[in-house]
Amino acid sequence: MFSTKGTRSRGAVRPLVLVLLLLAVGLAVLFGPQLWGLWQFNRELDAREALAQGIGVRTYELIQACELCHGFDGNTHSDFYPRLAGLPAGYLEAQLDAFASGVRQNPNMGPLAMSLSPEQRALIADYYASNSLRPSGVAPAPIAEPDAANIDLAAGERLAAVCVACHGGELQGGQMPGSAEPTPLLAGQARDYLVRQLHAYRDGSRGDPTGTMRGIVGSMRDADILSVSQYLATLSPSVADDLPLETD
Ligand code: HEC
Ligand code: HEC
Repeated sequence: MFSTKGTRSRGAVRPLVLVLLLLAVGLAVLFGPQLWGLWQFNRELDAREALAQGIGVRTYELIQACELCHGFDGNTHSDFYPRLAGLPAGYLEAQLDAFASGVRQNPNMGPLAMSLSPEQRALIADYYASNSLRPSGVAPAPIAEPDAANIDLAAGERLAAVCVACHGGELQGGQMPGSAEPTPLLAGQARDYLVRQLHAYRDGSRGDPTGTMRGIVGSMRDADILSVSQYLATLSPSVADDLPLETD
């Protein structure tokens, strides 16, 4: 008697469990992405709070103006905007000063750099220099024809062998031999940014304090510029272990 009752109630429970299970799956499908997003958002907020405390609120407020294009920690995934993480502080500061004085011209950077005091520019430069560039995890976007046909990675690698003399053995940035002039990191830098800079040195639209880069690119053809830039963009930068944030 008892066992019959038990069997009957178990029989009634089973559809209920099934309904609850389906309901749970339905809710997970409906609201899962939002909950996941919320969890990620909270994680990001925590990371930022830790970062603001670590670097000081003044620097934290200043770099808000840079995030859109360069990524919060200088690790943008863009092919277009330069990646700032891990570039030497002296180099970054010199570039910000050059944008502010108009020696280096760019419609985005000029007004921004001018609005910062020399002290603020130094603070920002130190911040990005203290981060490390991480592999972007995204291959540079395909280049359209007819340029794509001109990319020769082996030629790019041969050309890059010349760059190590000043840009560091691993192309992670360094110093001009025999001087204190800092050189920027090239390994893992955004490809289209590199292409634009090499053209700008070649046609003289980017000033070159030591005249070195103009000399180097003077003999490079368009195809060489593309090949070396594609090669450099695919090199892995030093892998960071000191960054609290995941991506741009
Ligand atoms: C609207 C987009 C945008 C914003 C916002 C922006 N930048 Fe830039 N930044 C650029 C572009 C574009 C370039 C490349 C300029 C060129 O082609 O010469 C650049 C270049 C730079 C460079 C030179 C990098 C190198 O390798 O030589 C530095 C340093 C820099 N930005 C710092 C900053 C800082 C600091 C901020 C915030 C205060 C900031 N940027 C905000 C677009 C932006
Ligand atoms: C003899 C030293 C020297 C050699 C060799 C050299 N560079 Fe440079 N490079 C520099 C210096 C110095 C700068 C900084 C110039 C400035 O302030 O604009 C620079 C800047 C650059 C920049 C600008 C990066 C940025 O973040 O805006 C690029 C791109 C670059 N070099 C590419 C190359 C490539 C590619 C090679 C090899 C084919 C090369 N360089 C070889 C000294 C050198």
